[in-house]
Amino acid sequence: MHKFSRRTIFRTAFAFPFAGLLSAQSSEPGLRAYAAKKGLFFGGAAAWPVLRDDADYAKHFAEECNILVPENVLKMGPVHPEPERYNFEPADYMMEFCKKHDMQMRGHTLVWHSQGWPWLKTTVSATNARKYLEEHIRTVAGRYRGRMHSWDVVNEAIEVADGREDGLRKTAWLEFLGPEYLDIAFHAAAAADPQAKLTYNDYGLDYDTPGNEKKREAVLRLLRGLKDRKAPIHAFGMQAHLDWKAFQNFKAETLRRFFRDVASLGLEIYITELDVGDRDLPDDEAERDKGVAKVYEDYLTVALEEPAVKAVLTWGLTDRYTWLAGRNRRPSGAGVRVLPLDREYKRKPAWYAIARAFESRKA
Ligand code: XIL
Repeated sequence: MHKFSRRTIFRTAFAFPFAGLLSAQSSEPGLRAYAAKKGLFFGGAAAWPVLRDDADYAKHFAEECNILVPENVLKMGPVHPEPERYNFEPADYMMEFCKKHDMQMRGHTLVWHSQGWPWLKTTVSATNARKYLEEHIRTVAGRYRGRMHSWDVVNEAIEVADGREDGLRKTAWLEFLGPEYLDIAFHAAAAADPQAKLTYNDYGLDYDTPGNEKKREAVLRLLRGLKDRKAPIHAFGMQAHLDWKAFQNFKAETLRRFFRDVASLGLEIYITELDVGDRDLPDDEAERDKGVAKVYEDYLTVALEEPAVKAVLTWGLTDRYTWLAGRNRRPSGAGVRVLPLDREYKRKPAWYAIARAFESRKA
């Protein structure tokens, strides 16, 4: 089955040996076609204002993706810089872009401890926090009512190292409102956009390590609690920021079991922020690309075995624009090669690895 998929893709690639000379890669469909064939979504996080200003970037998003998520512009601070002021221009542009190119859009994210309102500390307190939070969600999710595929309602609420029994991260929202802030957020999002799949999104859950296991337990407890209290939650977002070196701790059965547990709660699963750090691979590009591609393929092949997994999004699309360029800088200074397309938008082995993983999915 696996071998067959590999052959199919290579056959397509080699069927048009001169296509690359005519127009870059247009002989082969984008990853969105591989996903759509299985009733799934493939997409990437889009940077602003790059999507507006770099025509090549935009073209490749339209070609490869049937879903897009804004990398930053819908986060609390960027979208709501002052109590009475919202900045919807970038996300509105992206929503139009998606409509034009027959793509879905995800919202990221309504509640997060990071990139928050610059005015939080001066204006928000335990007495008015609920009002501000509900108004924020009503306004932001309400603006795109009926048009979002899904919303990351709460992002990264678990931090086991913060030492609480329930594993909740110590954030301003927890301090102001207690653990109920999660329920408040999901209910407000459901009222604002009853059609969007409301998602809880988190990271650090991919490997077979004691730390990741503790976090998986805490996340499952959080999801189960929300379901038990009848909070409107429909999906779980697995960020999946992977790394070539850390991937030695990957165990297929551990991921399978976690996804099965999440799915048994009646939730869909989206891989929301996939990328593969290449810091510990040698500078040699061919070797690096091979290592990175193998991580993409091994992870996604297992992830896509779970029928509840409905979407795969990479955090960016091209090595030209990726948060890992700064965060994961290579000691030699060579550019990172962590996404499906290289800096010139050429498809890398990682692209083919993702395509093969989609092909391996049972219909
Ligand atoms: C990152 C963006 O990629 C950066 O541009 C920004 O400076 C910081 O945030 N988890 C998330 C994303 O949920 O929102 C983060 O995005 C990456 C980690």
